[in-house]
Amino acid sequence: MIDPLSAAATDEACDGGGSGQPATEAAAREITGLEAASPETITVERPAATEEVLVLDFGGQYSQLIARRIRECGVYAELLPHDTDLERIRDRAPRALVLSGGPASVYAEGAPELRPELLDLGVPVLGICYGMQVMVQSLGGRVEAAPQGEFGRTGLTLVDEGGRLLAGLPAAQQCWMSHRDTVYEPPPGFAALASSPRSPVAACESPDRGLYGIQFHPEVVHTPHGTEILDRFLREISECRERWSPSSVIEQQVERVRAQVGEGGVICGLSGGVDSATAAALVHRAVGDQLTCVLVDHGLLRKDEATQVVEAFREGLGIPLLHVDASGRFLARLAGVTDPERKRMIIGEEFIRVFEEEAEKLSDARFLVQGTLYSDVIESGGGAGAATIKSHHNVGGLPDDLGLDLVEPLRMLFKDEVRAVASELDLPERIVWRQPFPGPGLAIRIVGGEVTRERLEILRDADAILQQEIRAAGLYRELWQSFCVLPVVRSVGVQGDERSYAYPIVIRAVTSDDAMTADWARLPYDLLERVSSRIIGEIRHVNRVTLDISSKPPATIEWE
Ligand code: XMP
Repeated sequence: MIDPLSAAATDEACDGGGSGQPATEAAAREITGLEAASPETITVERPAATEEVLVLDFGGQYSQLIARRIRECGVYAELLPHDTDLERIRDRAPRALVLSGGPASVYAEGAPELRPELLDLGVPVLGICYGMQVMVQSLGGRVEAAPQGEFGRTGLTLVDEGGRLLAGLPAAQQCWMSHRDTVYEPPPGFAALASSPRSPVAACESPDRGLYGIQFHPEVVHTPHGTEILDRFLREISECRERWSPSSVIEQQVERVRAQVGEGGVICGLSGGVDSATAAALVHRAVGDQLTCVLVDHGLLRKDEATQVVEAFREGLGIPLLHVDASGRFLARLAGVTDPERKRMIIGEEFIRVFEEEAEKLSDARFLVQGTLYSDVIESGGGAGAATIKSHHNVGGLPDDLGLDLVEPLRMLFKDEVRAVASELDLPERIVWRQPFPGPGLAIRIVGGEVTRERLEILRDADAILQQEIRAAGLYRELWQSFCVLPVVRSVGVQGDERSYAYPIVIRAVTSDDAMTADWARLPYDLLERVSSRIIGEIRHVNRVTLDISSKPPATIEWE
């Protein structure tokens, strides 16, 4: 099912975007430097003839992150549920297994178990946190609840130069811990490799059996040598030889899309965002003009955004594109509406109507391209992960009975990998690096009032000035999002010796890794000054510029 507000209309808006996240989980996300994982896992098709590592997910917050880090080391990795069929695992012939962390206690009733066969597949196994504990326990080591757990930055001291796994690392270093159960004795035949203040066995190994365990999290940024440890496990111990890169997906997906769609017609809803654009460009490479792209322009886009997409696709890439100017319809339905959730609902509904009408006109369309990413696949699996997404982000999905089969060529990629593929496919820099933009567009940035053409124009012009100046200052890529907000209030000013009574514009610029938490960006004063004087000088009806200095939580990124 397409979700036009998150997947097509705003295909990059929703990554992990949720404000209903418990504070602890949000904080946990912050420390990773990347998105945290959801316990839900799902398989995507493995790239043909690729060495791969399987990460078995025991429900840890960082399982997804482990897979990402392994891919960053140039080895393809995928998450599978910890109880995946053994046959399925054997069939995939992985180069190594990684057992993730998890919230359970190894001796609690119903705790996920480690099947002994997994340790006898003939490939190296690395257990991380719970993954290590469950391995140690199953092989006769001693794991017990400690009086005090270890959470956060922790000193790590190597024993005997770190054995095979930790060889070459400093004798004393920092790592990130998050555990209460503790390994007190390694299983027979294992050597302890490191300790921390509260973990006598913070790492252990049995190189003969190819089994390795670490209590700390190598995948989070606060374990400075974490990537080196993973890299060593992958290259030295598991003998991974290939260098996988996201762009290797292109050729393979081109083949798959051809096989899937045959001679059928294909449509793709574009937003100008990187996900839908990349999916479309890939499908176009596969089936050429069988693909038609549709840009539903609800009139709530940023300045020149629709034109840029049209130019990039029609002229730059030679991809047929229908630009449907539906702004009149959207504005008519939004007249008099001030409640943000009503705005979202109306925009979502109208979007579906317009898209359906266009799809019907393309009588031979049988397939719908969607820019679904690996993280979407995991999150949309339901359960705890799905609950973290703000409900309104999902408003406006296209109904299932559209009668089109889905083509999802990015299902195996993380967001940063999509940007790499997008560059490889020659998408313009503006699209490759576009900041997230919400599906309801500027409508939810006109706050506490009705969306009118005049207000849209003011906001669009102010936003364009902000973007220009931020780009000119070289800060665009550093910011997760930067935009203007128009609160529907007026205040008094004095312009050209005359009293003015006009709107304020709020500058909102945030840094974030995944929109779950965000901090207000410390934009340089001279940049702020330029933006302020340009907005007030160039835009009538604005006499004040203010800066939003709230973090998320407790604020959210958008104002509505
Ligand atoms: P908040 O405002 O909750 O936003 O901190 C988190 C991320 O989600 C985006 N956002 C939306 N995206 N439809 C979308 O597709 C929406 O209704 C919506 N509301 C917020 C927001 O821009 C940020 O990236």
